[in-house]
Amino acid sequence: MPSSLFTPTALGEIVLANRVVMAPMTRDRAGPGDVPTDLMVEYYAQRASAGLIVTEGVQPSAVGKGYWRTPGIHSEEQIIGWRKVADAVHARGGRIVMQLMHCGRVVVAANRGFDADVIAPSAVPCPTQVPGPDGVPADCAAPRAITVDEIPALVAEYAQAARNAVAAGMDGVELHCASGYLINQFLNPASNHRTDEYGGPVENRIRFPIAVLQAMAEAIGPGRVGFRISPGNPYNGMDRSDPAATFGPFVKAANALGLAYLHVVDMGLADCDTLNLLRSNFDGPIIANNNLKAESAAVLLDTGRAEAVSFGRAFIANPDLVERIAAGAPLAKPDYALLYTGEERGYTDYPAWAG
Ligand SMILES: Cc1cc2nc3c(=O)[nH]c(=O)nc-3n(C[C@H](O)[C@H](O)[C@H](O)COP(=O)(O)O)c2cc1C
Repeated sequence: MPSSLFTPTALGEIVLANRVVMAPMTRDRAGPGDVPTDLMVEYYAQRASAGLIVTEGVQPSAVGKGYWRTPGIHSEEQIIGWRKVADAVHARGGRIVMQLMHCGRVVVAANRGFDADVIAPSAVPCPTQVPGPDGVPADCAAPRAITVDEIPALVAEYAQAARNAVAAGMDGVELHCASGYLINQFLNPASNHRTDEYGGPVENRIRFPIAVLQAMAEAIGPGRVGFRISPGNPYNGMDRSDPAATFGPFVKAANALGLAYLHVVDMGLADCDTLNLLRSNFDGPIIANNNLKAESAAVLLDTGRAEAVSFGRAFIANPDLVERIAAGAPLAKPDYALLYTGEERGYTDYPAWAG
């Protein structure tokens, strides 16, 4: 099987035993107080042979929560819970970074369990529905626009979340700039109608995302900070036209920060070679994602298009994905009905390959 997947590499300060990365996946199994549970510890420990695990999206603050039972990293109990996860992964020789995901306007109010404002760059509701507590798609709440005066505190929340992640034993953090959540809402003209220095031309729309990356890099060191983008992804009401016009300048500005890596959900756009675009604007390592198989992933590594590759769905039903790829073993299929429900069912009960 493709040997290029199994050579070590480094993403900034983070040293990986192999190049097979587990992509971030929200699984809605946090406990009361949005605290990681022992079941989550087991789930991540089972997958520790990945060169790197990127956790599910984790809210940096209570207001960043939009989905049902997603974990946070803004309370002492949450830090203690995540420490168990990080320790278990490290005990098995793995590496793990935390994905920081502020939902911005992608919020079903009933998912939160508390009353708080829904904030976004502009008072433009998310046009699509997301699952409510019962899993049934529901309308998103109407957001209010973040004021300019609030922005420094919002940036500081991300920096504190990064510190908290490191205090919990994480090897680093990944800023979720993809899929229509808060950072993407600032980048995209469909959700950012601001007329101040955070909206309008691209140099303004990237200002908040870059400020967040810079603050996180200052908080824990740039070699422990990565970021994830999905140029051209229309998810959660993003305008997909001309992704190069936004993501070229964004990635170029992020490059100046000397970050650990860039993780990209490559949408396979007809009008833009995304990996080429990123390579010409970013000097650091690239993790490529989306619909990859072992063979296509190895081609990306062998041709120098990416330094590592990530798999999402394949890791759900194959906790030992790395070993299975190495052995050429068949892959199990996930039960999609149990993605966000079922506790241990469809979560920690997928067996390793019997051989
Ligand atoms: C159940 C599920 C939850 C996901 N949650 C997240 C998430 O929290 N953050 C994120 O950046 N991407 C998330 N994704 C997207 C995956 O990280 C990945 O980009 C996608 O599954 C495509 O990769 P694949 O073809 O290897 O599955 C999720 C995907 C799935 C299937």
